[in-house]
Amino acid sequence: MMKMRTSQLPGLYKVTVDERQRLVGEATGIAATQIATALASGGLDAATADKFVENVLGVYALPYGVALNVCINDQERVVPMVVEEPSVVAAASSAAKMVRAGGGFHAEIDDPLMISQVQITHVKNASLATSRILSEKAEILTRANRAAPGLVSRGGGARDLEVRMLGEPKDEMIVVHIIVDCRDAMGANLVNTIAEAVADRLAELAVGKVGLRILSNLCDKRCVRVCCRVPAKVLATEHMDGQAVIDGIVNASRFAELDPYRAATHNKGIMNGIDAVVIATGNDWRAVEAGAHAFAARSGRYSPLSIWRRDGDSLIGTIELPLALGTVGGTLRVHPSARLSLKMMGVTDAGDLAKAAASVGLASNLAAVRALATDGIQRGHMALHARAVAVAAGAAGRDVERVAAMIVEARNITVEAACQALAVLHVDGPDDHRDEAIAEA
Ligand code: MEV
Repeated sequence: MMKMRTSQLPGLYKVTVDERQRLVGEATGIAATQIATALASGGLDAATADKFVENVLGVYALPYGVALNVCINDQERVVPMVVEEPSVVAAASSAAKMVRAGGGFHAEIDDPLMISQVQITHVKNASLATSRILSEKAEILTRANRAAPGLVSRGGGARDLEVRMLGEPKDEMIVVHIIVDCRDAMGANLVNTIAEAVADRLAELAVGKVGLRILSNLCDKRCVRVCCRVPAKVLATEHMDGQAVIDGIVNASRFAELDPYRAATHNKGIMNGIDAVVIATGNDWRAVEAGAHAFAARSGRYSPLSIWRRDGDSLIGTIELPLALGTVGGTLRVHPSARLSLKMMGVTDAGDLAKAAASVGLASNLAAVRALATDGIQRGHMALHARAVAVAAGAAGRDVERVAAMIVEARNITVEAACQALAVLHVDGPDDHRDEAIAEA
């Protein structure tokens, strides 16, 4: 009998990779062998990769971890994260646990509306062009839908049309936005097809020339919003009580709201979580990044995507950003690891996926600002980074944890120190791999 889906797996970090696959499989209803197969060698062989892009020489693997303790709208989500940076997965899991103590994440999402842009140039009379296009709106939307019959049969399609005049009259430029409901697709191909299908007719109506025909990555009609409440007591550290931590986090939020230099780093901490989920699910992280940062600058001043405030004895966090993610189409169809990720999360549609990515983004941000407002980021980060340093020094198997512990204890997390620690563990002399690491150190 299948167990209840859970995202709470205490001690998962302590067991072997094989054991983790078994435990996560049990928690999500997937056979451990299926997890192992879908992730073997990064889930992609060179022959398949050769069908994705050009001039393929091989594949490039990244670590695949899972964020735990994530509860969104009362649903348990084990959230896969593909990321190379130590502490990102652990930080998201530990912040999600704090959020859980206040009832978990509450998420909502707009309809999956993408913007298809058609630029028209050489427009002598932009007002007349605008009214002529708007008066033929129904016909343009019908043309758009004819170009995407599959999408229409899935319940999506062109929903609206907007005309914007750009620059000065001397620029002679307008842009037409066709608003397309992409359902569970990210939508780039659909929207680009639609732009190309309606462009000639739009130029004819505008008495101008067709310019660019492409989606906008500032998909601000497709935003996700997540909020959470974190009780003060779970925020406390060894040296600071929860109330002081709330004050520190609100101060960190204000800093980001007032200073674009800080806002960029604050948002980087959010994207640590979001990108990792976007990559794990085979989605286009460059599109997500472009949309997030354009949205962050929408007021004319680059701002944080999340805000933290006090409410009595609790900390309240909110995040809003555009997220164009797909659960059908694109890379997903062929990448076994991406398919596994969706199954593991138990998401039923692209909206649920976006809610999970944004929640993990908010969790990553909480972990970062809490660390910055308390002990500083380096202590926890370097402790986890120590394992990668140990590997770089040539440690393998059980030596990795031993060497990492030794260099953390010595407060000297460098490859040189790790080589020395390894030499202490194995007094019979360094092996070849270690020699290379020493030479590089
Ligand atoms: C590091 O990857 C992310 C942080 O810099 C984010 C932040 O400063 O809020 C820690």
